[in-house]
Amino acid sequence: GLPDRVSVYEVGARDGLQAESAVVATATKIEFIQRLERAGLRAIEATSFVSPSWVPQLADAADVLTGLERHPGVRYPVLVPNLRGLERAVAAGAEEIAVFVSATEAFARANLASTLDEAVRTAAGVVQQAGAAGLGVRGYVSMCFGDPWEGRVDAAVPAGVAARLVELGCRTVSLGDTIGVATPGHVHAVLHAVRDQGVGLDRVALHFHDTYGQALANVLAGLQAGVTEFDSSAGGLGGCPYAKSATGNLATEDLVWMLHGLGIATGVDLDLLLRTSVWMADQLGRPAPSRVVAALGRP
Ligand code: HMG
Ligand code: MG
Repeated sequence: GLPDRVSVYEVGARDGLQAESAVVATATKIEFIQRLERAGLRAIEATSFVSPSWVPQLADAADVLTGLERHPGVRYPVLVPNLRGLERAVAAGAEEIAVFVSATEAFARANLASTLDEAVRTAAGVVQQAGAAGLGVRGYVSMCFGDPWEGRVDAAVPAGVAARLVELGCRTVSLGDTIGVATPGHVHAVLHAVRDQGVGLDRVALHFHDTYGQALANVLAGLQAGVTEFDSSAGGLGGCPYAKSATGNLATEDLVWMLHGLGIATGVDLDLLLRTSVWMADQLGRPAPSRVVAALGRP
């Protein structure tokens, strides 16, 4: 059967805002995060400590993290690509980080300027030092289903990378469909391969972008297989500046609508979330692409 409760891991302030052409003011980012928190989200990826020449949109990562009013029971993980990023994140008071590697060589090159093996080695150093400093660590595997340069990705490939991240000490591994090409049967195949590698699905999260409108169907496939953590972004913001054809993440309100419809608790107040997505869309000067926002309109 389906779980009673699911964790929603909110990535709008990071995956969403990294893809915006406009640079959003630091104070607006902070308000976005605090509104998400008031809407009931309990894991809110706040920003990323990557190279500011690669992602100028998030160059204010330290100011965002130190400017937040943090509350007990809420996690504010940040993305970290290397030891320099870890140092900056720790200096800004991060308690949880996320490292990221690719399932494909082409995207390791495009997104991290390295080979897949180098990327895993760099991540290993970061996970090791972060663990020693008492930080929680999540691991992302990108391009788990398909890659704009390499095409369809065989299920065994992301499964192998996920197993390596767990072995390194990542608490959770998030399997990313960076360009949104997954379909439910493929999700089942990847989760099966992950389990075959000895990784329990209680350590797995799924991260869908909604390019082809398959994200919710893919979530249902994940739920049926036993996954209980899903990544999404308020308003469906998102994308990756280093992946051609990466569009918005699955919208958090669309995810929550489906989960609540299935009788699965999330702790999220849909009305407050909707208000947050509409507020953020106003800040960005265009409508939120989410279906629930389109259906319910301005609260
Ligand atoms: P590189 O160019 O090989 O790095 O990039 P480098 O070591 O030569 O450094 C270049 C410059 O950046 C240097 O500065 C470094 O000091 C600086 P300069 O000497 O030119 O003034 N630098 C840094 N500054 C601040 N913080 C740092 C840092 N590191 C270097 N941490 C690098 C390698 C990893 C840095 C680069 O490729 C990078 O930052 N990549 C990140 C790209 C990115 O953020 N992509 C989006 C996030 S991943 C994603 O969206 C997918 C996900 O959502 C899941 C999914 O959908 O699949 C997670
Ligand atoms: Mg993403």
